Amino acid sequence: MATDQRTATDPIPRFPDGFLWGVSTSAHQIEGAADQRGPSVWDTFTAEPGHVKDGSTAAVACDHFHRYRDDVALLAGLGVDAYRFSISWPRVDSPGGLDFYDRLVDELCAAGVRPVPTLFHWDLPAELDWLDRDTAARFAAYVSAVTERLGDRVTKWITLNEPAEHTLLGHALGVHAPGRQLLFDALPVAHHQLLAHGLAVQALRAGGASDIGIANSHGPTWPASRDSADVEAADFYDVLLNRLFADPLLLGEYPAGLGELMPGDVSADLKVISEPVDWYGVNYYAPTRVGAPEGAEIDFGGVRMPAELPFSVREIEGVPVTDFGWPVIPDGLTELLTGFRERYGEKLPPVVITENGCSYEGLDDQERIAYLDGHVRALHRAVEAGVDVRGYFVWSLLDNFEWAEGYARRFGLVHVDYETLARTPKASYGWYRAMVASQRA
Ligand code: FCB
Repeated sequence: MATDQRTATDPIPRFPDGFLWGVSTSAHQIEGAADQRGPSVWDTFTAEPGHVKDGSTAAVACDHFHRYRDDVALLAGLGVDAYRFSISWPRVDSPGGLDFYDRLVDELCAAGVRPVPTLFHWDLPAELDWLDRDTAARFAAYVSAVTERLGDRVTKWITLNEPAEHTLLGHALGVHAPGRQLLFDALPVAHHQLLAHGLAVQALRAGGASDIGIANSHGPTWPASRDSADVEAADFYDVLLNRLFADPLLLGEYPAGLGELMPGDVSADLKVISEPVDWYGVNYYAPTRVGAPEGAEIDFGGVRMPAELPFSVREIEGVPVTDFGWPVIPDGLTELLTGFRERYGEKLPPVVITENGCSYEGLDDQERIAYLDGHVRALHRAVEAGVDVRGYFVWSLLDNFEWAEGYARRFGLVHVDYETLARTPKASYGWYRAMVASQRA
């Protein structure tokens, strides 16, 4: 059972008043009940052998659709202020699909946990395609329908989750749905998601929403050496991960050279894309070490790719790694946020960490406690350095369907037994509960 254990003896420093402590999940990764919604690109992708490592699908996942009351009770027990979940577009498009989110939001409000929905977390309806510009307008129409139904109780919204990963992994490299390997021809997917974000902000504002953000993945990019080829490759990767989405959103322009690669004249779109957001969400896991491409193929985080990408991802040596092999470097979060503050200055709105977490096996997950403890302290150092940070969400409440990894990677504060679907809080659940309570004491 969970215990309130602490790895470090020093108390975590106090965060500013009103700071939001939360946890995150996403629809496709936890809901199941695939028979009560239309198919998404992830259903099509997982149906093809070889795409998901353990051959699993998310048809049942954590069965959250039927067990959401138990999961809200776990959230209430955790004592968090807020819960970030996502709304499944193909479910909303199915008859009665919004009823589930209606019930979930009511249950959260009754438990005193603030609902923070993400409107798109990669599960695009199977008949749609981000290569089509029209998908952005379709997204805005769906967002209007959701706002109309939930906007009386939901006040904080997230438009998209990690459009960079959805573009790169899903459309450039093909290791995520929809499994395309378009390399640089995937760039319109980035532009259309950005446009979808801007149109969604307009739709949300028209529906009365005033607390809107986006969740982008970011991390410092470190060159593999001082060689100019490695530095150039790292700069390029930095543009793709840290600027391709942030520059249009916050500055209203693409990084030099990329605007020309986008479909058509994008200047009018950039005005829509840069509609001001109320806060900027950052998903942080680790820095990336990047060098020039190696040989005929490149190694992209364990996946062999054609050498047409002008970079390769290298191992960061001498640091602990998670079960996923991701390096554990809390200082990277401080570096990232202070770097953002330097780059965007007054144009950077308040920041919320919308995801941070790690995969480890076991119920007595001391490594997860150490990871979270280290990252919360690193976040506080960013606050002390003057970054306006307003919230922190752990990924994830539950172990869940980790995309191409299937169920093999466990990110939850709560263990899920996939045979019985029983939930068991891990040691880290007790740690997070005690940490959040100590912030209020
Ligand atoms: C992020 C995704 C999230 C989860 C974590 C581990 O990139 O947004 O759904 O898979 O990684």
